[in-house]
Amino acid sequence: MELLTRDYLGNFGFRYLHIVAGICWIGLLYYFNLVQVPAFAAFGDEGKARNIAIDKVARRALWWFRWASIATLVTGILITGLVKNYFQDFMSSTSGQGIGHNVAISIGMVLGILMAANVWMVIWKNQKVVLANAANVLAGGEANAGAPGAGRKALLASRQNFIFSFSMLFFMVGAAHFYSGAFAGATSGNAWTFFIIAMVIVAILQINALGLLGGTAATNKLLWPYESHKNALITGGVLWLVLWILSEILLG
Ligand code: HEM
Repeated sequence: MELLTRDYLGNFGFRYLHIVAGICWIGLLYYFNLVQVPAFAAFGDEGKARNIAIDKVARRALWWFRWASIATLVTGILITGLVKNYFQDFMSSTSGQGIGHNVAISIGMVLGILMAANVWMVIWKNQKVVLANAANVLAGGEANAGAPGAGRKALLASRQNFIFSFSMLFFMVGAAHFYSGAFAGATSGNAWTFFIIAMVIVAILQINALGLLGGTAATNKLLWPYESHKNALITGGVLWLVLWILSEILLG
């Protein structure tokens, strides 16, 4: 019985907890994007009903969402720390786990870490304003004029995370499954080129979602990917396709 060895905990225990926490987090991300945002918009003028839903439903969903993101992040990083020589010969053709595995998990991890940062630094920061406003209005107080703007910033970051999630899951799951053993002949230079191009594309999208390329108003044409969950689905699919084709061209 070697249940408490570092490798076993990393490969089995924390990997399993990581998947459970990740499903809780990304499941709620999909609930927000596919169900809650369209449902709350459908309340229309029924402001009181929407505020009750924000106070009673969104508040609870956000609690599980943000703590599941932390559990996913911590267990994910523990896997790399506990499994022996996890990143041995990083991005080199002699890499212990294979160059394909290391490139894939690096992209998956950067996307996951960025998404967790969005959860805490943008979505939760702004949703706190929305939640406080709903509770205050329900208690008979004045509406906060800043709440709709805060909600908009949270929405953009949430749709950006929705867009990233498809590529994040592809490369994360692909590290152990479809990319392990693949691209054995790829050079270190090509692996870095692929990684850097992927990071530049990701950075441009992230900067745009923060409204740093022309603001957060709905009139900003660059924000097309975030104006509906359909647009976000299309953008997420295109991002995945571009990254997958690039990996085949540059590493294959
Ligand atoms: C937040 C940052 C994240 C980090 C640092 C991280 C890290 C990792 C690491 C190191 C692995 C092991 C890959 C390998 O076999 O070498 C892994 C696998 C995996 N992760 Fe993540 N991850 C993160 C986010 C997520 C999220 C949000 C999900 C959503 C479900 C997720 C789901 C998975 C799955 C399904 C596997 C594959 C396990 C397997 O097939 O063996 N991860 N992750």
